[in-house]
Amino acid sequence: MSPQTTQDTYLITGVAGFIGSNLASALLNQNQIVIGLDNLSTGFESNLSFIQSHPNKNNFTFIKGDIRDFDTCQQLCHKSTFVLHQAALGSVPKSMKNPLLYHENNITGTLNLLEAAKKENIQRFVFASSSSVYGDTPTLPKIETMPPRPKSPYAVSKLTGEYYCKLYSQVYDLPTICLRYFNVFGPKQNPNSQYAAVIPKFITCSLDNTSPQIYGDGTQTRDFTFISNVIQANINSCTASKHAYGEAFNIGCGDRISINELSHQIQTQCQSTAKTTHLNARAGDVKDSLACIEKAKKQLNLKGLISLSDGLKTTIEWYQKNHTPILKRS
Ligand SMILES: NC(=O)c1ccc[n+]([C@@H]2O[C@H](COP(=O)([O-])OP(=O)(O)OC[C@H]3O[C@@H](n4cnc5c(N)ncnc54)[C@H](O)[C@@H]3O)[C@@H](O)[C@H]2O)c1
Repeated sequence: MSPQTTQDTYLITGVAGFIGSNLASALLNQNQIVIGLDNLSTGFESNLSFIQSHPNKNNFTFIKGDIRDFDTCQQLCHKSTFVLHQAALGSVPKSMKNPLLYHENNITGTLNLLEAAKKENIQRFVFASSSSVYGDTPTLPKIETMPPRPKSPYAVSKLTGEYYCKLYSQVYDLPTICLRYFNVFGPKQNPNSQYAAVIPKFITCSLDNTSPQIYGDGTQTRDFTFISNVIQANINSCTASKHAYGEAFNIGCGDRISINELSHQIQTQCQSTAKTTHLNARAGDVKDSLACIEKAKKQLNLKGLISLSDGLKTTIEWYQKNHTPILKRS
């Protein structure tokens, strides 16, 4: 990660979520100023409780508000230099059931923020996109030049956000960068919802010695990306050259693992003996996923990326210390 030599103001949308709260932590550690916006629809204020004892806590302001409200977006952009736009509804199955809600939050919300960023001359607008834009093409690894084939309203919402980012860069000179995250994992990810990401679910099941549930036969593969790699990509995007403006970048590990093997590794590390159960495959889920990360490594200057096994170790250690309070959440 490039060291920050100046003090700037970062607007993080979705700050009470998994990625937003980890980003806030990294920026406060670098003595940056952070304005965090979240409507707490899927995020938790408790993800931000660490700030109370942070030495730079006075650099942080939390605003409970919604990216669907243009005035809120403009007021906060007015005070900011950079926007790290993480706020979104993130469940593929829920988006299949409620496409309108996903359109409002993920597309209209993003457009509001882009328009506000343009009006307030934001220096860099970083958009949290998703590997889901590639859809279920058999070609691996996924490269940014491949035609997108979204399979769910969630994936369409992310691709539409990318198109708007490119448009705002080309037509309105707003420097935008889109980061296509591949299955991010790490501390503070919520294991409790029905649609929670697989790694925190498997870890908390294994720590409780209960049965991890796998959708489908478990041969599907994913490129899991440790959170610190995502943080590095966001922060480096704020200093990337203009060749990166309007572009999309894969942010992955560049390696893949089957869900069966992942479950086995987590159970072994947590010394769990519970038997795995298999459920029906979910509509909208892709079969395999693997990122080519050469473009991001080069243009976003990514260095020292953390591997899946090192990231898993850190994440399991975090849940060993914290999973009981998390499980008390509904
Ligand atoms: N976690 C992953 O593996 C992954 C993969 C690909 C893309 N992404 C994208 O990264 C971003 C962050 O993901 P996450 O895993 O931290 O999810 P998360 O659900 O933990 O965080 C998203 C946050 O956005 C907030 N939010 C939602 N709608 C909002 C609105 N209208 N106004 C204000 N706040 C709103 C939620 O309350 C939540 O705190 C999302 O855009 C997601 O689509 C995540």
